[in-house]
Amino acid sequence: MKKIYDVAIVGGGVIGSSVAHFLAERGYKVAIIEKQKIASEASKAAAGLLGVQAEWDEYDPLFELGRQSRAMFPKLASVLRDKTGIDIGYEEKGIYRIAQSEEESVRLLHIMKWQQQTGEESHFISGKELREKEPYLSSSIIGAVYHPKDGHVIAPELTKAFAHSAAISGTDIYEGTEVFDIQIKGNHVTGLLTTEGTILCEKVVIAGGSWSTKLLEYFHSEWGTYPVKGEVVAVRSRKPLLQAPIFQERFYIAPKRGGRYVIGATMKPHTYNKAVRPESITSILERAYRILPALKEAEWESAWAGLRPQSNHSMPYIGMHEEITGLYACTGHYRNGILLSPVSGQYMADLIDGKQDNRLLDSLLSQSI
Ligand code: FAD
Ligand code: GLY
Repeated sequence: MKKIYDVAIVGGGVIGSSVAHFLAERGYKVAIIEKQKIASEASKAAAGLLGVQAEWDEYDPLFELGRQSRAMFPKLASVLRDKTGIDIGYEEKGIYRIAQSEEESVRLLHIMKWQQQTGEESHFISGKELREKEPYLSSSIIGAVYHPKDGHVIAPELTKAFAHSAAISGTDIYEGTEVFDIQIKGNHVTGLLTTEGTILCEKVVIAGGSWSTKLLEYFHSEWGTYPVKGEVVAVRSRKPLLQAPIFQERFYIAPKRGGRYVIGATMKPHTYNKAVRPESITSILERAYRILPALKEAEWESAWAGLRPQSNHSMPYIGMHEEITGLYACTGHYRNGILLSPVSGQYMADLIDGKQDNRLLDSLLSQSI
């Protein structure tokens, strides 16, 4: 007899896997349908920064969600480690947002002030004070705002830990299986049409990252996601060069376990081509050397590219269809899907449980540009 799932999730990135984790923990019978393998796309490529304060320059509803999500990580890291044995590499040593000019410094102070007004901790330190903590940083850095609550994780490990946890709680994972349509009878979801046949289910969550557009059309013809390519470089150093990530205008150097430094990333919209260009590597490294000259002594490891899923509304679609019962979307998390994954998964589980309504979706769409 064919299995009927409570919920089938399209996409085994960090978002689909988080939704599966939270639903399966509540006893739902869940399936993840992934055309490649768990953690193959953006969720494999990401630097893993939990940069609520590093990434947001002004207030919006996602900043609020980001704060809630960041606060979930300490407990989540230990829950996932105890249940799955996977260490997601959670580090809470803060993030330094640096300035190399007076103009940058003034801008950072302005951003720091509104963040402090929201109750977030952050403080300005001089270049000299910064180098007392991080001695290898360049003397061209005149100051930094320190965000002690920001942190980072290892993105593919987080994704695999969510999926593994879901599997331990009974989720079936279909890898190498592509969804090409949703089966709807009347105005109820009844299944997914896939390359391996029909998967029967009562509810569907669209979490297909940059490939969500076709299925999102059930919501509205204007809804969709598109890729914003990011190229990243990784090097290794035996000598510890940094304690905490350094962030500057969407550029970062993040120290990872094992003496690894992840540096990036470019921003190239509307291309699905994940080839890494030599000129991108050159410009990433040149910029990194201006911040941390000691990187010149590091050993080359690798370079890769990933596709950030941006939504046509510049805000993620996190909610349910108002007319087709059983149809949900959770996609378009752009630069911050790793950070936002726990809160998104928990919110979707609450929505499916009937403990939430569509107000979040409305407020996100009202901010769209
Ligand atoms: P994805 O990880 O892309 O997963 C979607 C999955 O769905 C894919 O595996 C795909 O194969 C599958 N799929 C799609 N369509 C179908 C279908 N029809 N059938 C079956 N399967 C399907 N975020 C942060 O918070 N912090 C960071 O520091 C950070 N750094 C980043 C650096 C780079 C270079 C990039 C590219 C992204 C970064 N991000 C970061 C953003 C973050 O990676 C994304 O927001 C997040 O991974 C999106 O997760 P997702 O599950 O929606 O998408
Ligand atoms: N959030 C980091 C990036 O998207 O590159």
